[in-house]
Amino acid sequence: MNAFNLIPKLIRASFDSDRKTIEALSLAIIKRIKKDHPDTAGEIAKALTYSGFDNATARSLDMQPLPVDRETRYSLVKLEEPSEVLDPILEDFARKELDDFLKERELINTFLEEGITPPNSILLDGQPGVGKTYIAKWISYKLNLPLITLDLASSISSYLGRSGQNIKSIFEYARSQNAVLFLDELDAIAKRRDDTGDLGELKRLVNVLLTELESCPSTCIIIGATNHPELLDKAIWRRFDRSLTIPMPSEKEREKLMLRHLDKYVSRLKKETLAYLSKNMVNINAADVCKLCEHIKRQCLLNPELSCDLVALSEFCKITHFPSREEKVLICKTLKNEFDDLSQRDISYITNIPLTSVSRYLSIKTIVKGV
Ligand SMILES: Nc1ncnc2c1ncn2[C@@H]1O[C@H](COP(=O)(O)OP(=O)(O)O)[C@@H](O)[C@H]1O
Ligand SMILES: [Mg+2]
Repeated sequence: MNAFNLIPKLIRASFDSDRKTIEALSLAIIKRIKKDHPDTAGEIAKALTYSGFDNATARSLDMQPLPVDRETRYSLVKLEEPSEVLDPILEDFARKELDDFLKERELINTFLEEGITPPNSILLDGQPGVGKTYIAKWISYKLNLPLITLDLASSISSYLGRSGQNIKSIFEYARSQNAVLFLDELDAIAKRRDDTGDLGELKRLVNVLLTELESCPSTCIIIGATNHPELLDKAIWRRFDRSLTIPMPSEKEREKLMLRHLDKYVSRLKKETLAYLSKNMVNINAADVCKLCEHIKRQCLLNPELSCDLVALSEFCKITHFPSREEKVLICKTLKNEFDDLSQRDISYITNIPLTSVSRYLSIKTIVKGV
């Protein structure tokens, strides 16, 4: 079929406001005319790319009303205009994967001109507090597109029975916008279909979600996030072009997070304190590292008579537990070993262990290992 024969279909699809067919037909036309009419093919590609709005203010004014639950009239999604978000602090491999995703969006015209469907979805998994929601906001900022967030964990339970219809209207809305659709807590819906304890409703929802994901045009960007990748249906994984496990921050990232969040208070900390904290905050997620920095800053202000190092180490000890005597001995000895100018009173303050016990623990002869 040549390009001319596709025109009636394209016109019909336009009158029906059938975006998916319009996009598929436009791609087919580009493919057929690219060689002989490269300029026209380029124009069609551009029209496809910019088939939404092109400036943030106009976008917010022109936006359709948000989709609502038919009975309660509550909004089903949250809509946020892109606003500045600092780069996420991540290991190189994760950062590269995200950069590639953004680059593919920048090259969308080239993809379309080549007749290649550009990738439009990414699934983020990882423990709580590693930055999945933050990354979704950052992508929205980098692409200068509004963020439509659907928190499945809260919406599923409140709209059970009408969730299928709600999900359809959310996707319909997302398709009509040039936006990033963020499906947070995806596991709340995407339970494995072979799970015997599964409710029929959840199974139906998975199918609705699969169909909707399938029919999303490439101009609509979808980010999924889950803390429980093992609960996700394999078919859902397959619907995403990319998947990325966001790792817990390692020592290097923990240090970068502290430098960013302690801000000017960094200069009030000794290098050794910063290095000690970054090294020993093992298994502490990025969100908690940020929270710890806020606590340190607040306590430094509240206790100007104390050194920031003392405050920082004490705040760190509050989130690290030393349940056994061995662990208490170890932290006292480690602190003494790493910071020779700490008095026993300082160590008692930092660890919240009574001074007499600190004194006893420090007199015990053991080999000091890092905590
Ligand atoms: N990788 C990161 N880089 C920078 N800040 C981060 C990162 N991860 C988490 N944060 C901080 O912690 C907060 C909470 O993280 P969040 O994105 O809600 O985690 P998740 O969605 O994975 O549970 C963020 O708003 C941000 O301030
Ligand atoms: Mg989150």
